[in-house]
Amino acid sequence: MQRMRINGTTFLVAALVATVGAIAFPVWSYADRSGTGQANVAAGTVNTQWGPLTAADRDLIVRVRLAGLWELPAGQQALERAPSQAIKEAGDHLIVGHTDLDKRVRIVAAQLGVALPNQPNEQQQGWLQEMSAASGAEYEYKFVNLLRAAHGKIFPVIGTVRNTTRNTLVRQLASDTNQTVLDHITILEKTGKVDFDAIANDAVSGTTASPTGPAAPVPGQIAPSAPAAEPSANLPTTSSVSPGAPGTVNTGRPDPVDTAGVLG
Ligand SMILES: [Fe+2]
Repeated sequence: MQRMRINGTTFLVAALVATVGAIAFPVWSYADRSGTGQANVAAGTVNTQWGPLTAADRDLIVRVRLAGLWELPAGQQALERAPSQAIKEAGDHLIVGHTDLDKRVRIVAAQLGVALPNQPNEQQQGWLQEMSAASGAEYEYKFVNLLRAAHGKIFPVIGTVRNTTRNTLVRQLASDTNQTVLDHITILEKTGKVDFDAIANDAVSGTTASPTGPAAPVPGQIAPSAPAAEPSANLPTTSSVSPGAPGTVNTGRPDPVDTAGVLG
């Protein structure tokens, strides 16, 4: 009987060890496996005094620089050609926003040791040529929609880097860029010439997934009113909902600080 109890206990312990081992093995082996998302991030990451700098961080820095390199000539052309007050105003915002962002990205790139391009990429040069070759209504359409599409593509990239970066300089640059990109999207839409159907179609081209979300509204049927989502107590708050009027983006941030004299 004594012998059997020992054997039973031994069996139980062995079974427990085997179970824990079976659970732990995949975790242990996965942590050490190259080719995972974490391993890929780690492989392209360098340490800086402002936190780790990933390949995605460096990519955003380069893309902010590239945006200025093609949007500044595009904005200048819009101001010079000025087919309408709305296009002129959009060109003005492109120049002001990217002159400011370019200062910021040059300072950040110098601090982090990231090499910057000095020419727009091939695609951006193509867009500039398309605009230069167009005239009249075609020019206005191309100016607004080439720029609006480019801003729409970078918008989620900024959000991802803003969310994931561990580098304080990149985090601030992402915040500043987000503000400027939203301002440019807003001012381009204010021209009334954005082709929203083209943007929506472009976003889903190549995908076959069924749309998800709540059911489509039934014509003539009134949806039930939703109760307010609010705190259960009347708490004293001090912040404002928005720093600017609806349809505007507050771009009144202070000038960048250039302690290392990067801007010359
Ligand atoms: Fe822009």
